Amino acid sequence: PKVAVLMGGLSAEREVSLSSGRECAAALRGQGFDVIEIDAGRDLPARLSRLGPDVVFNALHGRWGEDGCVQGLLEWMGLPYTHSGVLASALAMDKECTKTAYRAAGLPVMESVLARADEVRARHVMSPPYVVKPYNEGSSVGVYIVRDPVDGPPELSADMPETVMVERFAPGRELTTTIVGDRALTVTDILTDGWYDYDAKYKAGGSRHILPADLPAEVFEACLDYALRAHRALGCRGVSRTDFRWDATRGLAGLILLETNTQPGMTPTSLSPEQAVSCGMSFGQLCRWMVEDASC
Ligand code: DAL
Ligand code: MG
Repeated sequence: PKVAVLMGGLSAEREVSLSSGRECAAALRGQGFDVIEIDAGRDLPARLSRLGPDVVFNALHGRWGEDGCVQGLLEWMGLPYTHSGVLASALAMDKECTKTAYRAAGLPVMESVLARADEVRARHVMSPPYVVKPYNEGSSVGVYIVRDPVDGPPELSADMPETVMVERFAPGRELTTTIVGDRALTVTDILTDGWYDYDAKYKAGGSRHILPADLPAEVFEACLDYALRAHRALGCRGVSRTDFRWDATRGLAGLILLETNTQPGMTPTSLSPEQAVSCGMSFGQLCRWMVEDASC
């Protein structure tokens, strides 16, 4: 079959997506697929009509590619595509909607409020330490950590959305679990010098990944269980990756869900492909599985 790999796109995670897309396109060629690479611009509908792929491999991240928009277009065109559908993508991209779905499924989250960016610039809307995030971006773009009351409110950049999420800072270790179909793969413990920001995520050597993570069995099992329940609560399809914080001083009660990524990174430094490999699934096999799982 002819597979169109969508990459790049219009979001703040464009560069990450170009990297994911190139890796996946090369792997799919290696698996014998006829691959076309498409940098997803405004002319995407016309290009898809002209090229007529059998399946669309969505390697986009962030707004328009991960939030239900492109999924809606592909539904409209009747083209089978990888990963989650419209509603799950939209829910998971909105960090507040994600929390509502998590809570309804009995999954633990950190307390947070939505606030206007102006208000957040003017005063501490909760007592530090807290984190300010756009409610709809990925890869830690536009994330601010306010550690101390003496620091004053954060100077958010002008391109932050009007409404932002302010979340109590969750101390502890950064853990993550990938779902493939109905299977939770493993748990990775992510070690960084500072926090797991954009550079730590994508620079070679920016972080160290320990997998399987060395954790108490009940915490390890809880990550697998919570990630699968999160995937189902949001209605995800195919591959997703749920990120956690774990405060070891509080045992199992210290484990909270941060978010579920419906288009997890597929770059050379990304977590999900590495988890697949550790479970005996090569990068090429993972990409093949995704194409075979595609639907609309
Ligand atoms: N948002 C990036 C691509 C990730 O979650 O891997
Ligand atoms: Mg994310």
